[in-house]
Amino acid sequence: MCGIVAVTGYKKALPLLMNGLEKLEYRGYDSAGIAIVNSETKNITCNKAEGKLKNLIKNLNDKNMPGTVGIGHTRWATHGKPEIKNAHPHTNSSGTIAVVQNGIIENFQDLKNKLQKEGVIFNSDTDTEVIPHLIQRELNTLSKLNLDKNGSTLLVAVRNVISDLEGSYALAVLWADAPTSLVVARRQAPLIIGLGEGEFICASDTPAIANFTNIILPMEDEEIALLTPLGIEIYDSNNERQYRSPVSLKVSEQIMDKMNFKHYMLKEIYDQPETAKNWLKNYLIKDLENGQYQINYPFDTKFFESIERIEIIACGTSKHAAMVGKFLLEQFSGIPTNVFYASEFRYSPPPLLPNTLTIGVTQSGETADTIAAIDMEIKRRSSKEDKKFTPNLIAITNRKESSIGRQVLNIIDICAGIEVGVAATKTFFGQLLSFYGLAIKFAQIKGTQGSDEIDKLITELIKLPPLIEDLLEQHNESSEKLAHDFFNIKDVIFLGRGINYPIALEGALKLKEISYIHAAGYPAGEMKHGPIALLDKKVPVISIASPGQVFDKVISNAQEAKARDSFMIGIAPECNGTEIFDYLMKIPSSTEWVSPLLNIVPLQLLSYHIAAHRGLDVDQPRNLAKSVTVE
Ligand code: AGP
Repeated sequence: MCGIVAVTGYKKALPLLMNGLEKLEYRGYDSAGIAIVNSETKNITCNKAEGKLKNLIKNLNDKNMPGTVGIGHTRWATHGKPEIKNAHPHTNSSGTIAVVQNGIIENFQDLKNKLQKEGVIFNSDTDTEVIPHLIQRELNTLSKLNLDKNGSTLLVAVRNVISDLEGSYALAVLWADAPTSLVVARRQAPLIIGLGEGEFICASDTPAIANFTNIILPMEDEEIALLTPLGIEIYDSNNERQYRSPVSLKVSEQIMDKMNFKHYMLKEIYDQPETAKNWLKNYLIKDLENGQYQINYPFDTKFFESIERIEIIACGTSKHAAMVGKFLLEQFSGIPTNVFYASEFRYSPPPLLPNTLTIGVTQSGETADTIAAIDMEIKRRSSKEDKKFTPNLIAITNRKESSIGRQVLNIIDICAGIEVGVAATKTFFGQLLSFYGLAIKFAQIKGTQGSDEIDKLITELIKLPPLIEDLLEQHNESSEKLAHDFFNIKDVIFLGRGINYPIALEGALKLKEISYIHAAGYPAGEMKHGPIALLDKKVPVISIASPGQVFDKVISNAQEAKARDSFMIGIAPECNGTEIFDYLMKIPSSTEWVSPLLNIVPLQLLSYHIAAHRGLDVDQPRNLAKSVTVE
């Protein structure tokens, strides 16, 4: 989604802004722009371009943009098409104020109507454009008080304006009359300040900062800050000055390297053995007294004892991980569990039940719907006096420093390292592992599984890294070849049952989001209740058939599809029954419990190779964003 970079200091702003914007490209965008203020002439120069950053760079080649203070933006269209007029920065009528914004101003139409009645002419279809005009109006009012034209005055003006805004925003503001100052503010959208050497750089995400400094100050919700080359002033929504120490960026948050891979997505699929190793190293410890393994999550798990049910809130791929989690938590640990789309939960939450654990799952830690749903749950539970309704929260994320990291105390950090590809792969894998840990923890506490069964599962998890390495080696080339045959395919059906039904959904999501081929996942037993009507020889079926309680059923469902002439691909070990598949992507034998962790790998590879073979922008698929920071 939209990305913001803003800089003030003693170095030339242009290269710093461009470098920052490049690092935000992975979030997904469809236009970009920058504005820099020249402190000598007190002029703001803007440059914008449709499409990728290279178009903006082309525009800039013949332009001189001196100045050490500036703002930049990558825009993912919400209000108004991805055209130059809608690209940020947006300015007031005289071009003396420039604003970049991430989020949605929900009451922009009312504000716009009022401004238009006052004679303001708008040049874009965006919600953002109301902000510079409102700031101008505010500065006009403040000028009657004879305030100096400086950063502090701009701070007051922006503060007054944001108090009238409804919705979410992260924004950065330049004012030609205070040419060394920047004002930044956030509400329900991330903003991080980096403390460099001779400059402060503020951005939506750490990669844009990591090249300059590893010392950061994440802004809290509803904060506003004034940045000048001399220092930072941060204020909360009550206008209280905030003082806190900066923190260091983790090394994993600083590395964005494709190595020798053609795309980040492929590299990240190959990172999965490392993700497994990290998880095992961080969260599995052997009790030296009794030799038993324990899950070492970094919070007190005493409250687990009173938990009677679990609700999990997530979107997209994270929801698929949550569905595997539900299966494990119910079938392995015996705890009734429900999974909700965050966007649905917000507007139709289930009636409150006591002794509930709420788990938020989000790799980015910034998904607006997930953050808002968790927030709502905290509020409605906290309003009850009965202690049984106290919010018990866990977040599973790859970005501990994100919004969810500040919202929820109990964090399972999946430590997968930055995931650049928009299509989640290694973070999905890490989320799955987090749920295995929770299931083991609950089974131990509740005594729902014998220690043999628990040990067996742990032993299988320990063996994962080499198994995944083998799977990658075995399937990379073969899925590339298969991708050639699927080049022109229009529809693909994915089938799975039980613990592998979410893997069918995830396989379908991966394929459609990066290859733009229509794909749908179904519980295999549901086919005959409708979707089977779609099948013919042009519609291949990918069937996940892991030995276990539903293996025979999945094979029968696959037979039904084969009888409709579909080309059948099996994701299964080579065993009796799998000979019905026209093509078998062989999976090593395992218990049904851990099979999702193995089955997902060839599905990720196949999607990747199909998209790469079609020559598509695998890492930044059209219309998609890595962090979905708007509702
Ligand atoms: C994953 O491949 C997708 N790009 C998308 O569905 C994603 O999982 C979803 O937007 C949720 O993101 P989150 O995990 O950062 O909350």
